[in-house]
Amino acid sequence: MDYMKSFRGKTAVITGAASGMGLCCSQTLVKAGAKVIMCDVNAKALKAAAKELGPNAFACVTDVRVYKDAEKAAKLALRKTGRIDVLIPFAGGFEPRMCNSFKPFYEQPVEVIDWGVQVNLMGPVYFTRACMPQMVRQKSGVVCCIGSIDGFESNGDGPMYGTSKSGLFNFVKGISLAGAEHNVRAFCVAPGPVMTRPGMAAMKTLKGRAAEPQELVDFILYLCSEAGACCVGSTHLFDCGRIALKP
Ligand SMILES: NC(=O)c1ccc[n+]([C@@H]2O[C@H](COP(=O)([O-])OP(=O)(O)OC[C@H]3O[C@@H](n4cnc5c(N)ncnc54)[C@H](O)[C@@H]3O)[C@@H](O)[C@H]2O)c1
Repeated sequence: MDYMKSFRGKTAVITGAASGMGLCCSQTLVKAGAKVIMCDVNAKALKAAAKELGPNAFACVTDVRVYKDAEKAAKLALRKTGRIDVLIPFAGGFEPRMCNSFKPFYEQPVEVIDWGVQVNLMGPVYFTRACMPQMVRQKSGVVCCIGSIDGFESNGDGPMYGTSKSGLFNFVKGISLAGAEHNVRAFCVAPGPVMTRPGMAAMKTLKGRAAEPQELVDFILYLCSEAGACCVGSTHLFDCGRIALKP
């Protein structure tokens, strides 16, 4: 597709790059001729994925909860490619599932609550803080945060997930305000169910199915390209009509 040509020679920093949508996005960007800094806490899966993608993929083992790791990724991007054009922090997840702790919020260990906020909200915040100075220097850059339909809904076992995702809806406005005079924009894409694991098929949607990871990645990259230049500070649902089912 035409808009994919705009990624040739560009550099993208992708978190959660070892699996799911982050991996799919890294693969798509490398195919389009971009260089990708692939960040993930799962060192083994990350290194295998980057190796398979060849010399334009750089594995960077990072925990998005640690600001120094975000700085490490930004520095690697500059050392290897001299620029940062796109940041897409995919790393995230529903804290009860990720921490294997399914119980009401009032019984959740505080570590589970912390995980929910630190990975889903502070991860994107730290990576944006670390990558944005280079975008400002370049006078161009795009940050696409990954929200969720849960930013509109909620869950009694894991309310920090939706709280963090809806926090991103506001965060991208602030980043767009800070970046506007430097041609740096941010926006958020909020997916409904996406088939990164079989369980997502069980989530009801008006379309009667979940999205495929590639469908979501194509939508995200369209908005990250020049074709999406008018997406500034906004949040975009991609949910197969799930929100339409809700009262
Ligand atoms: N799959 C869905 O249906 C769906 C729906 C709405 C939103 N989302 C959001 O999309 C994003 C990607 O989802 P996915 O289904 O592809 O996820 P996934 O579980 O397949 O991948 C997440 C990746 O993040 C990495 N990760 C976890 N903790 C990390 C940390 N502390 N530091 C660095 N990396 C870490 C994991 O190792 C994994 O590789 C997430 O933010 C998720 O909340 C997903």
